[in-house]
Amino acid sequence: MIKIPKKFKSLFKYFVPYIFFSGNFRELFNSVFRRKQIIHKFEHEKNFYNRHAFINKAISKFENCKYLEIGVSNNDVFNSIPLSMENKFGVDPVYGGNYRMTSDDFFKKYSDLKFDVIFIDGLHEYDQCKKDCINSMKHLNHDGIIFFHDFLPRSFFEEKVPRKQKSWSGDIWKVAIELSKSKNIDFKIINIDMGIGMLKLKKDFEYRSIDGIKNKDFNDFLEYRETLPIINSEEALKII
Ligand SMILES: C[S@@+](CC[C@H](N)C(=O)[O-])C[C@H]1O[C@@H](n2cnc3c(N)ncnc32)[C@H](O)[C@@H]1O
Repeated sequence: MIKIPKKFKSLFKYFVPYIFFSGNFRELFNSVFRRKQIIHKFEHEKNFYNRHAFINKAISKFENCKYLEIGVSNNDVFNSIPLSMENKFGVDPVYGGNYRMTSDDFFKKYSDLKFDVIFIDGLHEYDQCKKDCINSMKHLNHDGIIFFHDFLPRSFFEEKVPRKQKSWSGDIWKVAIELSKSKNIDFKIINIDMGIGMLKLKKDFEYRSIDGIKNKDFNDFLEYRETLPIINSEEALKII
């Protein structure tokens, strides 16, 4: 395959039809031939908030807050965090943030660090998200809060692992189900911006795994969804 230098790529958009750019053909193909898999089975709340708003509200509760973001990408959330750089930790093996490594390596290397607010938004696959969650719980200060992105997938393809389309939550909802059944964990999901998980730990908390959950799919999620502690944005703002 011919490799196109990066600097020429931006010019290509003027010459090459949109459809030939990576991903666009797949999106078009899905929208014509795979309509069933992309149909939304429910919608998120439409309101004037996103994950940045809730994370920043939580940060404002702490004096000298220490913030960790797992999976930073284009720094969209990371750049909105109004803390001095010594208190901002953004971990991503590919791009964004200030620690170029996987979350597993970060927790191994910086085993003594503790945080007040942690945002988990790394690899959207069940096993990795569960590891990120359990590690984050160990690194959370008393009264700290952990947020997650993408806990409420709306369609078969939005949930499917491996990824099938641009808008992708993956199967990390399985971690949400386990958290909702865990011991001494105060857990809610805000029904906005793809589903924002939010948790606080109580004394003697315990993460409880569910046998066989790894093999469940989107249809199972639709059933489990009824049991999740889903709240709206206004309710969330009151409890953060
Ligand atoms: C959805 S993006 C993050 C978006 C960002 N948090 C935001 O809200 O704008 C997911 C990121 O996770 C990163 N990632 C993938 N595997 C990871 C891992 N094992 N540890 C940390 N980050 C990972 C990817 O490189 C990607 O940049």
